[in-house]
Amino acid sequence: MKGKDRTIKDFGEQWLKYPDNEGYYGSLELFSDILSPFLEPKDIKDCRVAEIGSGTGRIVNMLLEAGAMHVVALEPSDAFEVLHRNIKQPEEVTCLKITGDKLPAQGDLDYIFSIGVLHHIPDPKPVVEAAFRALRPGGRFLVWLYGKEGNGLYLALISPMRILTKRLPHFMLAFLVEIMYWPLLLYIKCCHRLPLPLRGYMLSVFEKMSPEKRRLIIYDQLNPAYAKYYTRREAETLLIDGKFENVRTHHRHGYSWTVIGTKP
Ligand SMILES: C[S@@+](CC[C@H](N)C(=O)[O-])C[C@H]1O[C@@H](n2cnc3c(N)ncnc32)[C@H](O)[C@@H]1O
Repeated sequence: MKGKDRTIKDFGEQWLKYPDNEGYYGSLELFSDILSPFLEPKDIKDCRVAEIGSGTGRIVNMLLEAGAMHVVALEPSDAFEVLHRNIKQPEEVTCLKITGDKLPAQGDLDYIFSIGVLHHIPDPKPVVEAAFRALRPGGRFLVWLYGKEGNGLYLALISPMRILTKRLPHFMLAFLVEIMYWPLLLYIKCCHRLPLPLRGYMLSVFEKMSPEKRRLIIYDQLNPAYAKYYTRREAETLLIDGKFENVRTHHRHGYSWTVIGTKP
């Protein structure tokens, strides 16, 4: 099986095991944090939008809560049924079980979002091109990606581990997550007092999650077959090469990139 197909299969299994979007993980507060500093939830009111790689539908529900008029939600994995089940206003959503490069070229969307997805696609260029075609002129594409900068120590630890963990069956990976969970809580306590790596993310995002969602986030780092950590240059080049203009980047909590571009 190719890396791209294995990643989709991995996510299908992951979301069947962790299907809900409770608490801060599925909240409008977190959505504001993800959109900042480029957009606010109120910018999405009455807009036609799409999300590429919807997983369990947490971002779709955030878009609906922000007042989107219509959402096209793409999810190619077996999580499609979870997505369907979780959506709060199904009459305002079109769910498509397809990959991002097949996003219909309707040319009338105001915004397209892809949160935590492109870094799991070995060749994301066709997805960026499909987003370009689906937007109206003046429409905007916002993506969130894992960053290379700010993650040096983390990557030195996690990259060798992932060689093994991405191959583990669910029960073994879930057990490993349980072992890692408790030292991580201690690390967060230390972050309150010391300027440790990933402090911004730990205190502004991770600590606000429920214990179950914290475990999911650890699992999510170890499970997918393919994950790339982008430099700022690579992140902005992704959209610039896709013909987007006014491309801007933000180093979110010092560990990831939010990138936004406009279709001319
Ligand atoms: C980390 S999850 C993010 C889910 C959601 N955006 C969120 O933030 O909760 C990545 C999702 O992208 C999906 N995905 C993987 N490859 C894809 C592709 N080529 N096109 C669209 N989605 C893809 C996976 O199946 C998975 O559900």
